[in-house]
Order: sequence, then structure tokens, then C-alpha cells
Amino acid sequence: MSRSVPLVPTATACALALVLTACGGTGGVHGTPGGAGVADPYFPKAGNGGYDVTHYALTLAYTPDTHDLTGTAEITARATHNLSAYDLDLKGMKVDALTVDGKTAPWTRTGQELTVRPPSTLPKGKTFRTTVRYSGTPETITDPDGSEEGWLRTADGALALGEPTGAMAWFPADDHPSDKATYDITITVPKGLQAVSNGELRTEPTTRAGRTTYSWRTTHPMATYLATVAIGHYDITRTTMKNGLPVYVAVDPQEAAASRKVLARIPEIMEWEEYNFGPYPFSSTGAIVDRRGDAGYALETQNRPFFPGAPDTATLVHELAHQWYGDSVTPKTWRDMWLNEGFATYAEWLWSEDHDGDTAQQTFDALYDGTYYDDPSDNEAIWAFPPARPTSAAHISDSPVYERGAMVLHKIRRAVGDARFYDIIQGWAAAHRYGNANTADFTAYVEKMAPGKDFSGIWKAWLYGDGKPARP
Ligand code: TRP
Ligand code: ZN
Repeated sequence: MSRSVPLVPTATACALALVLTACGGTGGVHGTPGGAGVADPYFPKAGNGGYDVTHYALTLAYTPDTHDLTGTAEITARATHNLSAYDLDLKGMKVDALTVDGKTAPWTRTGQELTVRPPSTLPKGKTFRTTVRYSGTPETITDPDGSEEGWLRTADGALALGEPTGAMAWFPADDHPSDKATYDITITVPKGLQAVSNGELRTEPTTRAGRTTYSWRTTHPMATYLATVAIGHYDITRTTMKNGLPVYVAVDPQEAAASRKVLARIPEIMEWEEYNFGPYPFSSTGAIVDRRGDAGYALETQNRPFFPGAPDTATLVHELAHQWYGDSVTPKTWRDMWLNEGFATYAEWLWSEDHDGDTAQQTFDALYDGTYYDDPSDNEAIWAFPPARPTSAAHISDSPVYERGAMVLHKIRRAVGDARFYDIIQGWAAAHRYGNANTADFTAYVEKMAPGKDFSGIWKAWLYGDGKPARP
């Protein structure tokens, strides 16, 4: 839950500048501003310096007819240096009131940066609570790759999807995967609608004065981009797996018939994934299925992945695999995206191999030989850039991250053999459970798990190298 702190003015610089507003504060402790952004190579303004969030308590009310969202966010965080000011990320919405530890605090807004000036400098190590009351019509954000995230209006409600920077459309946040936290998300909607989120229901929904309140709790660390709310009409199915794990599935009634068979396989897929990836890291599972046009992609929202329309089995396997690889072990920056998508894609290959479909080797060969896709340009696109170095933010969800990322894992499997390979992918999930990791952590881990083996050729050609690697 920590990260490197971006460049900020030093105490000496502040003393020389004598600019109390930027550097000072009262009470004797000299502080500096936390800074906007955590120097993510692809989203430099995402996240913020100077503190570490431990818990978000979000109390939201939404009216689909007017698209009106009102919210209170109580953000508990710990200062990582003496803080005279700090930022939250919030895109759109109006801030109505803001307090720090119960005291009114001034704020300013510039783009997505909501800058807070606490009444006095927050000393390093102090836990403090920011309470933001906000309201407005939440925005849909268009990503660098043209896809839509943030707050989406659906046929019968709304949906919040956050990858990579959509959380800031519906709550003020340290909106970067490096700062994971626990969540309480309470949502009030017009009676007759339902509101589904991450984690487990704290209490059964209550209805008063024509509005129903749903109270969700996520007790395991979650990255902001994995937080969701889905508001609308849903058929809800609550079951438990043989091991007692709650399964909470919410399906738009129009997708119910098409979804029934595939969603009934969630326990079977979960058991297969536990066998292959190790113990499931969270305390419930499930899925949220909206209508096809409600979003352009599936997303591995924590506990219960989101699907626009009934998923196929491979997509369900993929999004559930992300619970281990992405949600529990989360990238340190958006550059490490292949650690999410390469693993989730390789999970699909392994599922196919174990269920009388193509072997992972066959999938690898088809990709390498350029016969995987019908369109030759799609086969070419796999080699556009190396998985660990996407060319820009617009390309973090392209096929080199997914398919070529999975090819990296297959190369490792071929180098170490099946037994050690499964030790590696399970051990990786265990070693960084609930944390963050990057590509260097991964290569070091593989090397540690296979002493005496030389992976430098694989890293150089498959992970970091431009163009199509030579046939070995
Ligand atoms: N993570 C999603 C998946 O593969 C895909 C996705 C949705 C995505 N939105 C994104 C990838 C934004 C990168 C950026 O399951
Ligand atoms: Zn994925």
C-alpha cells in the first residue's frame, strides 16, 4: 500500500520561499504538498503523493430519471510525509463541503485534481479522515483507447466501471492501483431498483420513503479501478459453493435466459482456478450481467466481474482468473498491465487445454504462425510492441498485452516444466496476495523459483523486445 513519492519542494526550499500557503501550516510541523500524480508512466496525473488510503466509506444516492448522484466520501488515510496540502482525484461533480478530521478545510479544483488544505500540517504517520460531500451528474470518461468508463448510463439504471481511471468520476479517490484500501459502499436508489457492488452485503436492503438502501462491504484491499456499483433491475441468485463461499450473481432479466447455463459454472470454474492458482483470495464471488449495449467490455470488478451481456465460458474464466491476477496481485503501475491480462488470457488457454479444447501449445503456435485470427492484420498486431512496454496509454489493452503476455507465460512453462510452472503461478499469487507487484518483481520471482535457469533470452525477446521473437 505504499509507493514512491513524486518530487515535492524540500523543507529547505520551503523555508527559503517563505510561502506559508504552499509549504507551511501551523503547529510547528513544516509540511510540503503531497503532489498530483504518482508518476505513472501512462497516467501521470492518476493517484496522488503524500498519503496512503486505508479505507473508503462511500454513501451514495442515485436517481436514474434525473441522473443525479449525491455522495459523501469518508476517506481514511495515513500521511507518508508532513503534509501541508494534498490532492484527491475527482473528475466532474460539484464539491459541496469538505472537512479534515471534522474541521472545515479549504479546497481548490484544477482538472481532476481536488487540492485540500488541512487546517494544520498533517505530520508524517498520522491517520486522518477527509470527508467530502459532493453532488451532480457523474461523467462518462473516454479513455485514450476510445473506450468508455467512469459512470455509464444503462438501459435501466447506471453502472460504474473504473479501469484505468474511471473511479474519479463517482468518488474522490487516490485513483491509482498502487493505493489499495477497504471499502464500505452504501447506495440508495428508488424503490424497485437494486444496487450491486463489491464484497458482501452488510445488512439486508432496507426501504424507507420510496427509496431502498443497499450496504456493501469489502474487507480485503481493493484498487480503485475495481470498485463498482451497478444500479438497475436484476435477477439475484445467492448460493454458496461447497466450501461455503457465497456466490452472488446479478443478471439483467433480459440476459437471464442466455446467462443461466454459463453462470451455473461459476463454482466449477472457481474450483478449477483454486486448484491451479491457489486459494481464492476474497470472501465472496459472483457476477454482474447487464445488457449488451450497456458497456463495451467485461471488467474484473472485485468479487463479481461485470459482463455486458451473457458471457461465454472463456470470458468468465478470464474475469474470474483476474481475481487472483490483477485484483489480489495488482500492478504497481499501468505499465505492468500484462501481469493482469497475460495471466487472465493464459488462464483461458489452460482451461481449454484441461477441457478437451486446444492445448496452450496449439494456441501459442497459432499465434506465432499467424493463423490465430481470420484477419491477417490482427495476427500482425501481436508483434506491435513488447508486452512490458506498451507504446502509449492508448495501447494498454491491445493484443501484445493479452496474447503476447500469455505467450511469455507459456515460454516460462516450457522452460521449467509443468510442475514448477504451477508452483510459480501459485507462489506468485501467494507472495503478493493483496499487494502490488511489477514486471521486475515477477522476473525476479521466476528466477528465484528456478535456480540455475537462464531466462534472460525470454525476458529480452518476449517481454521487452521489439518485433516478433525469432523461432527458438
Ligand atoms: N480488464 C478488462 C479485461 O480484460 C478489459 C478492460 C476494460 C481494459 N477496460 C480496460 C483494459 C481499460 C485496459 C484498460 O477483462
Ligand atoms: Zn482481462
